[in-house]
Amino acid sequence: ARKGSLLVREFREKKSMNKSRQRFWELAGSKLGRILGVEKTAEQIDADTAVVGDQGDVDFKHKLKFSQHLKEKAEAVSDFAKSKSLSQQRQYLPIYTVRDDLLGVVRENQVVVVIGETGSGKTTQPTQYLHEDGYTRTGLVGCTQPRRVAAMSVAQRVSEEMETVLGDEVGYAIRFEDVTCPNTKIKYMTDGVLLRETLKDSDLDKYRVIIMDEAHERSLNTDVLFGILKKVAARRRDFKLIVTSATLNADKFSKFFGGAPVFHIPGRTFPVNILFNKMPCEDYVEAAVKQAIAIHITSGPGDILIFMTGQEEIESACHALAERMEQLISSSTKAVPKLSILPIYSQLPADLQAKIFQKAGEGTRKCIVATNIAETSLTVDGIFYVIDTGYGKMKVYNPRMGMDALQVFPCSQAAADQRAGRAGRTGPGTCYRLFTESAYQNEMLPNPVPEIQRTNLSNVVLLLKSLKVENLLNFDFMDPPPQENILNSMYQLWLLGALNNVGGLTNLGWKMVEFPLDPTLAKMLLMGNELGCIDEVLTIVSMLSVPSAFFRPKDREEESDAAREKFFVPESDHLTLLNVYLQWELNQYRGDWCNDHFLHVKGLQKAREVRSQLLDILKTLKIPLTSCHMEWDVVRKAICSAYFQNSARLKGVGEYINCRNGVPCHLHPSSALYGLGYTPDYIVYHELVLTTKDYMQCVSAVEPQWLAELGPMFFSVKDSDTSLLDRGRWHNEEKTAMEEEMERLRQEQAEAAGRE
Ligand code: CDP
Ligand code: MG
Repeated sequence: ARKGSLLVREFREKKSMNKSRQRFWELAGSKLGRILGVEKTAEQIDADTAVVGDQGDVDFKHKLKFSQHLKEKAEAVSDFAKSKSLSQQRQYLPIYTVRDDLLGVVRENQVVVVIGETGSGKTTQPTQYLHEDGYTRTGLVGCTQPRRVAAMSVAQRVSEEMETVLGDEVGYAIRFEDVTCPNTKIKYMTDGVLLRETLKDSDLDKYRVIIMDEAHERSLNTDVLFGILKKVAARRRDFKLIVTSATLNADKFSKFFGGAPVFHIPGRTFPVNILFNKMPCEDYVEAAVKQAIAIHITSGPGDILIFMTGQEEIESACHALAERMEQLISSSTKAVPKLSILPIYSQLPADLQAKIFQKAGEGTRKCIVATNIAETSLTVDGIFYVIDTGYGKMKVYNPRMGMDALQVFPCSQAAADQRAGRAGRTGPGTCYRLFTESAYQNEMLPNPVPEIQRTNLSNVVLLLKSLKVENLLNFDFMDPPPQENILNSMYQLWLLGALNNVGGLTNLGWKMVEFPLDPTLAKMLLMGNELGCIDEVLTIVSMLSVPSAFFRPKDREEESDAAREKFFVPESDHLTLLNVYLQWELNQYRGDWCNDHFLHVKGLQKAREVRSQLLDILKTLKIPLTSCHMEWDVVRKAICSAYFQNSARLKGVGEYINCRNGVPCHLHPSSALYGLGYTPDYIVYHELVLTTKDYMQCVSAVEPQWLAELGPMFFSVKDSDTSLLDRGRWHNEEKTAMEEEMERLRQEQAEAAGRE
């Protein structure tokens, strides 16, 4: 909220200036404009008024005015062109031709499903149409996005189209960042943000309309919102719901909402020539780079879009592309046309993300290297060539590890078709698929599996429980998650102490819901309170909620590793993070200090913001800030209380085995515990990263008796010598006992319902 309010304050001043300018324009400007033959901008009128209102040296002012006048005239023309072209662009969008029909259907129906191709204007236009049609007089128009990047960039775009500053009439909210103000009419937000808002206001009274955008993505939060918003629509007759999708299987949405009408936006796309690989390729990063260079050298104008799976690949592809270009330039006698290489993925800082939308210079070709974020949620015009690796990352519950992991999978046929379609937005295009036609036919699923059916549901379960959804198995899901997933997530929450034996929220559970954090991190924070070290734990949790603060540039690895090592606290990566933050604080939160120590200043600033927001929540819960004053062992204990499920026991050098399931796991080379000759017997970890090995990321040494004390369902002191098998058996018995209790409860409820 802090950043948000700052932005808004800045804007407020400008806004009032705008008003007086506007009034002046109305009084005098129109006449002036007609004489000049151009519309004048507010800035020019300001300049004019400054001169007119000034009582100083008339002669000088005249001259000044004259030269300004010429300059302004030129600027006015270009400004006019710019603003005109934005509104012209709006009118050129396919959705514009059906604007009034759409508004008509919305007027007559409470729920409408809108289908349109990517780029037809579904995300940027309906919010504005509804605003123009008066809906925002009695509440907000909200629009949800599954991705943070999309929420921010789309809000930016719409604020430009409406000629306001971002954060005023048009704003956005993502976790830990609220850029809206009381004046906001159109609010873009992640689906997670809206889901949390239902906790505070289950009827969402401040919203007149909710648009659930990108519904085809079927993100976990969107799927839960479907069920919740369906109920809101039933309770509030004045509430409107619009569900938009880029793919054609809209029947499912329509059916779910009781046969809501489906509104089609006519498409305007060009044919795309699809070229498959003849043979499967071994290294798709290399293949994609080669293909991009070949297009750049031999094909006509048009930008290139490459689909990769994640940040690391994207960075190495960009690096390789830049290298190839340098080689070409130095070895070629002819001039090589310029190539602007632009990465985009969700963790990329916002200012760098914005670059993909900027026009490249004259004669320069853009080559955008993206994750599946560019599949449907971001539209970039001018793409004529798509290179598709055929893979994407998906969050999938890994039962072996008992946790979610981002894993690389072949994308679905629907996704591959979406990707290809990106080449046909501006003219006929080409899509190079780096996989074979038979892989497409035989190995790819027709549609992606909805997230709700493949990930951990702890967060959702906690949220729904607090919304008094007693029986999760009866919740109105469009595609219900496997019962086993629900039970597993309930079990994990029970282990953390958030649920009692009959599946209800405990006191701790109620408090955990208040924090926009994963249940483990919320538990850690609250244990910090109990153990008197919440100040320290707060910092650690904040640092874990932002991308890694350590900066490791490609050709300066050794130097940056040495810088990182200086912060190491030998027994804990968590305490190392705390140490980094405290040092930064000691150095007045300075940016140059960060640069000197190979730390991302933006990341640290974000952590500081997150910290202050979590602090606000603690204040509202009346939880005082306690500190252990450098007695950091107690902090490790708080860490242990949250992660005892993620514990591992030393087996060999640098090799551990997971206490829960006996699976081997390894210290990551970047860990403070790695290669220091100090290997504790028991550790807990924040998460596992599955690459070539199962790596534990962010590790802390713990005392075995803590595990026994904090996770008695898993460990006991004398038990530490008995076999893992015994412990595993015990764990299974506990789990069965809980499941039996819940089954009993379900039957009781069913009977009770039967009696009524
Ligand atoms: O949601 P849909 O894919 O149907 O389209 P949209 O996101 O509303 O985008 C409509 C048009 O707005 C695109 O073709 C882009 O020209 C433009 N746009 C933009 O320039 N910058 C953005 N951040 C978003 C959209
Ligand atoms: Mg869209």
